[in-house]
Amino acid sequence: MTFSSPERCDILDNRPIGIFDSGLGGLTCVREVMKIMPDEDIIYFGDTGRVPYGSRSSATIVKYVRQDINFLRSFDIKFIIIACGTASAAALPHITTEYDTDIIGVVDAASKRAVKATRNGRIGVLGTRGTINSGKYVEKIGKLNPDFEVVSNACPMFVPIVENGYADSEVADILAKEYLERLVERQVDTIILGCTHYPLLRNTIQKIVGNDVTLIDSGAAAAQDAKDIITRHGLRSDRKSTGRAKYYVSDTIHGFEELGSLFLSKKIDGDVAKIDIEKY
Ligand code: DGL
Repeated sequence: MTFSSPERCDILDNRPIGIFDSGLGGLTCVREVMKIMPDEDIIYFGDTGRVPYGSRSSATIVKYVRQDINFLRSFDIKFIIIACGTASAAALPHITTEYDTDIIGVVDAASKRAVKATRNGRIGVLGTRGTINSGKYVEKIGKLNPDFEVVSNACPMFVPIVENGYADSEVADILAKEYLERLVERQVDTIILGCTHYPLLRNTIQKIVGNDVTLIDSGAAAAQDAKDIITRHGLRSDRKSTGRAKYYVSDTIHGFEELGSLFLSKKIDGDVAKIDIEKY
């Protein structure tokens, strides 16, 4: 993570916040940013032409993430949130010193909240293969409290299910039962939804693990950390009106508004355009 120089501390900053994900999951982070910083402009990029990232090699994910960041930096943005568990886990540590823009991911934010939330010291982590294989959650939680047990499981079928609009279906129930089995057995009391697509499966997951288990939304956690940092660095907008959002994708914009509205929990209100990410 790189942070702005201290001399920017007292400046109010109306430049947009850049947010990206491999697809539409990052809109769950956008939703939280809109809630807690409604006056900020947002540029969102969803790499829908190359989703999923979760099953790709670390080298490929790093390459994609550099392009995603380069695209967002082609706007005059003040801050970047990597609203993708996979990109945060597999790429952020590699690229963190390459840019002079402040960049955060979801892993640190979600780990901090899980460590605060757990009562029995057993934390479950659900994510893509890329996220779980990176071991970043185990590493981060271990640093915050070495006595805590982390039970992780990769859920490779969750993203396609959500992106195709099957979050509330029998198929989702069956898969969730299987993916959660070990976490339930180990009696975790807190589960990190380590992929930003998973908040759409919140009801399905909660139904299986019961209401006593706290679910941590990693995209929302990153939005809250972003607000703290942006505020601390004097980079909040002084706009008196609601900020605007622009959405970019790398595949067809057909269907984006309909499916995107599910992630955002409201109608997509803003321009949507397709870009060629390979140019960045
Ligand atoms: N939203 C991404 C994440 O948080 C989706 C995963 C993927 O592209 O495989 O990991």
